[in-house]
Amino acid sequence: MFDVKKIREDFPILNEKVNGKALVYFDNGATNQKPNQVVNSIVDYYKTTNSNIHRGVHSLSQKATEAFENARIKIQNHFNIGSSKEVILTKGTTESINLVASCFTSIVSKGDEILVSALEHHSNIVPWQLLCERTGAELKVIPMNQNGELEVDKLDILINENTKLVAVNHISNALGIINPIELIIEKAHKVGAAVLIDGAQSSPHLKIDIQKLDCDFYTVSAHKMCGPTGVGVLFGKQDWLNKMVPYHGGGEMIKEVSFEKTTYADLPHKFEAGTPNIAGVIAFGEAIDYLNNIGLENIEKYENSLLVYAQKQLLDIEDVKIYGESDKKAAVISFNIEGVHPYDIGHILDQQGVAVRTGHHCTQPIMSYFDIPGTVRASFSFYNTIEEIDVFVSALKKAIRMLK
Ligand code: ALA
Repeated sequence: MFDVKKIREDFPILNEKVNGKALVYFDNGATNQKPNQVVNSIVDYYKTTNSNIHRGVHSLSQKATEAFENARIKIQNHFNIGSSKEVILTKGTTESINLVASCFTSIVSKGDEILVSALEHHSNIVPWQLLCERTGAELKVIPMNQNGELEVDKLDILINENTKLVAVNHISNALGIINPIELIIEKAHKVGAAVLIDGAQSSPHLKIDIQKLDCDFYTVSAHKMCGPTGVGVLFGKQDWLNKMVPYHGGGEMIKEVSFEKTTYADLPHKFEAGTPNIAGVIAFGEAIDYLNNIGLENIEKYENSLLVYAQKQLLDIEDVKIYGESDKKAAVISFNIEGVHPYDIGHILDQQGVAVRTGHHCTQPIMSYFDIPGTVRASFSFYNTIEEIDVFVSALKKAIRMLK
């Protein structure tokens, strides 16, 4: 049984007051809140286990290593990844994408094409632009329509024998649109192109089966899945990871080092130089257990009911324009009030305890497409409630009365 009241008891921050008002936290797309289980895991680690991993013969180091590697297995199982060698632990989605883009320097060359979509976050644009600058490859873009949906009828022209890699997000952070990644993966593989899926916004809301998707790379940020900041995952197929030269050099990513020649460690350690965020990775394992106890299917269903309710309330307000009106959407509503700057709305909502994100959401090309400076974005999580949406809607009506 999905019991939101009970779930909320795990999140002490939801009892906080902001500007004297009960917090209504609708900025889950930026980062979501952490349950006691995750917070306690970090505290417990530092109280009982803190030690460096993969290095010491002493018992504490072995205990820390075991907990860390155990979290890797939890990640592998959660995303149905074929082998733990394919689970690279990073700082987050941004680092995961930069890792692949950097390693593709020796794989792509002039004449090759990298394809992204019009819906990408800057972190899935800029690393590919840097790759193109280094190699002479060309960046191409899958366009979108007024509903924020990708124009898939253009794929057969855009994905061709020059395409080396296609990088698209599973769910758009700015609009919440769920992209047709299965179709994109199928078409890219027909021409032998690799596919990277940015899963930062999908992994908190959907059950992801990486083997079934058959993408080549998939990226995740722990902090959007009730885990800590500074932890992320790069799934990569072993064939690609074996071909790629390491991104960072340092301790733990080597087999043998001499001044003449260095050989690299086996996967996944080849891509994990330096001491990682050990407590964070272990806490991410706890977050995964936490989400699985509730069930991603239950989360998706519940969040969808919040989306439907909130959209209906907003559309009843005059002058509200929602961006991204596809029916394939996660629980994100990006909107503007005609004639009012999104920052002003965000500020007045904040005064009433309601946290939303305003601005371009690190997706300036989307804002340029709609010819707007930004939007107000309300993004929901499974611990949010219908009552909170009512508070948000009446706070919004108050803001409109003040500003118009
Ligand atoms: N990418 C995060 C967001 O959409 C930070 O807010």
